[in-house]
Amino acid sequence: MRVDIITLFPELFEGVRTHSIVGRAIGNGKIELVTHNLRNWASDKYKSVDDHPYGGGPGMVLRFDILRKALSDIKKQSSEHSPKIILLTPQGQVYTQKMARELAAENNLILICGHYEGFDERIREYVDLEISIGDYVLTGGELASMVIVDSVVRLIPGVLGDDTSSQDESFSPSTSLPAQAGSGSARLLEYPQYTRPKEFEGKKVPEILLSGNHREIDKWRKKQAQERTTMKRPDLLKEKLEIGKT
Ligand code: ADE
Repeated sequence: MRVDIITLFPELFEGVRTHSIVGRAIGNGKIELVTHNLRNWASDKYKSVDDHPYGGGPGMVLRFDILRKALSDIKKQSSEHSPKIILLTPQGQVYTQKMARELAAENNLILICGHYEGFDERIREYVDLEISIGDYVLTGGELASMVIVDSVVRLIPGVLGDDTSSQDESFSPSTSLPAQAGSGSARLLEYPQYTRPKEFEGKKVPEILLSGNHREIDKWRKKQAQERTTMKRPDLLKEKLEIGKT
């Protein structure tokens, strides 16, 4: 997968590029992360990319002509793919694990990070998807882009050491809960995990996990996942997902 990021702050992505699982995925060629400084498309000597909003009001707005030129040049660079163009904005669809799974199946994502008061509205016609990472306002789309990159890259086959580790985690569709009234199954939070030591400061690992009885362990985990979801995120139990679609 190739990920292009249009930003005013390409240097913010250096940490993502060089560290941890995303860094390793870049290193072994599973993904290519290309940052583009929007100022490269500015046409004046001040490299300005924004201007005052028509009609008045506070702040600055990213210019349509500059964003549009950047987008079309970047699309040409990756012409062998058909890129999915995503605008990061608090007005977008709220990001979920299901969306991460869908994006992980794409060949090329182009993420547009806004700044200041926002974008000229006309750029919206050129994007496939608007994404918000939550109902709060960031100073720009960079952190949101990093969230998308991180959550998508780890779902690309071969990126995580053990491919099954993204299957049983929170928000994955579970076959452990029967569909409520049809073909769906609920998303559950992940069951609790333990590792060594078996006991510390009087706190013990549940006996069942030490039993070696994998059928019983599976049953216990499913029950824990259900109870945990009921307690912490009952809203998830009301949702239904079609098995196989996600
Ligand atoms: N830009 C500013 N706030 C944002 C948010 N919540 N999600 C995505 N992009 C943003």
